[in-house]
Amino acid sequence: MSPATAAAIDGFVERCGAGARILEIGSGPGHDALALEARGLLVDRTDITPAFVDLLRERGKTAKVLDPLIDDLAGPYDGVWASAVLLHLSRFEAPVVLYRLAQATVPGGWLATSVKVGDGDDWLIRGSIAGARHFTFWQRESWCAAQEAAGWSVVESGENPGRLGDTWLRTLARRPFATATGDAR
Ligand SMILES: C[S@@+](CC[C@H](N)C(=O)[O-])C[C@H]1O[C@@H](n2cnc3c(N)ncnc32)[C@H](O)[C@@H]1O
Repeated sequence: MSPATAAAIDGFVERCGAGARILEIGSGPGHDALALEARGLLVDRTDITPAFVDLLRERGKTAKVLDPLIDDLAGPYDGVWASAVLLHLSRFEAPVVLYRLAQATVPGGWLATSVKVGDGDDWLIRGSIAGARHFTFWQRESWCAAQEAAGWSVVESGENPGRLGDTWLRTLARRPFATATGDAR
């Protein structure tokens, strides 16, 4: 796990608090979920790729195939962990998913994301995976604006270099509490 991911996990755990119920989008092989659970969070593992869900089940974990664009997200959750996953959604799909995640999260709940910094989108072969995958690149301003428009309040954002010469953007956002007047705070 990269130091940046470890630091993001620290910040997320600190904000959510032990015992918080977390929805993970795009669990993949499940390294992050293990780290979150080791810190006391309760993680619902999901992935759109059945092979990853099968792998997690073979490892004795409960996991389900979930497309956050169309499937019932259940909840409400205390937080959502979506690391290195929302970058695989198109620029039109990601705002919809951000909104749906907000609706599945309690007021005051948290969202952690990471995407790659850049412009445009592309099908790329990256890292150890032979097949091309679709990436949508985001600038910090537009990624934070998409979250704000979807009902989140971004409280932290930061960039760090990746192993492949790319730059990762990490964000931590919160669902505002409604005030007595109906304003969001
Ligand atoms: C780069 S891996 C990241 C895995 C894990 N979150 C991590 O950081 O180690 C991307 C993961 O997102 C999943 N994924 C891709 N597109 C998705 C989508 N539209 N909805 C949910 N998961 C998706 C992939 O199957 C894969 O498990």
